[in-house]
Amino acid sequence: MKAAPVVAIDGPTASGKGAVSEGVAAALGWHYLDSGALYRLVGLAALRAGVGHDDPQGLAGLAQGLDVRFDGGGVRLAGEDVSAAIRATEVGAMASRIAGHAPLRAALLDRQRALRRPPGLVADGRDMGTVVFPDAILKIFLTAAVEVRAERRYKQLIEKGFSATLTDLLHDLRERDRRDTERAAAPLVAAKDAVLVDSTERSLSEVIDLVVGLARDRL
Ligand code: CDP
Repeated sequence: MKAAPVVAIDGPTASGKGAVSEGVAAALGWHYLDSGALYRLVGLAALRAGVGHDDPQGLAGLAQGLDVRFDGGGVRLAGEDVSAAIRATEVGAMASRIAGHAPLRAALLDRQRALRRPPGLVADGRDMGTVVFPDAILKIFLTAAVEVRAERRYKQLIEKGFSATLTDLLHDLRERDRRDTERAAAPLVAAKDAVLVDSTERSLSEVIDLVVGLARDRL
């Protein structure tokens, strides 16, 4: 049996991957994997359990035992709705710090691949096209200028009721970009066969239409 098709959307923090991927999944009628949510869930579980960011085996153990359920746009950890909690800045920072550990990444691999189901999957993250779904029918590498990404993240956090300042966010984004691109395990890099899309001057719906068009051409 042929595996369900995958559209992989990778890129740096706050490049709009989440919104683009949800829009593309809705337009195609496909499933959606927010892989960053898995790293954030492990981050939240680690903060709660007191497992350090420098404990790769402890973190991999947490990831293996993680009781996660994605339902209707929300996410549950051991039954508790943590959709809002995983978006907190501290949780994002913890996720970014722990994502460099190879044993943790390995522990999350099967969980991500298990979400590949007909009629198809749109997967968003850092290594969807390079590591998790190398046979994706379409790989997008989505970028935007760091200042624009900081502004978008600022609006998103304020809308969700978190406090934030643009200066802190810009600093945080640059740090995350550095950690994501410099790590040894699955660094953030465009797959050789990825289509580069810069969303600095494109609206969300323009980017969604572009990606949906490219995906339909390849089906
Ligand atoms: O919201 P933001 O784009 O910063 O992050 P996210 O997509 O929610 O992911 C949270 C963290 O998990 C990121 O800072 C990445 O370092 C990490 N991550 C990863 O290493 N690999 C993925 N496939 C997805 C996220």
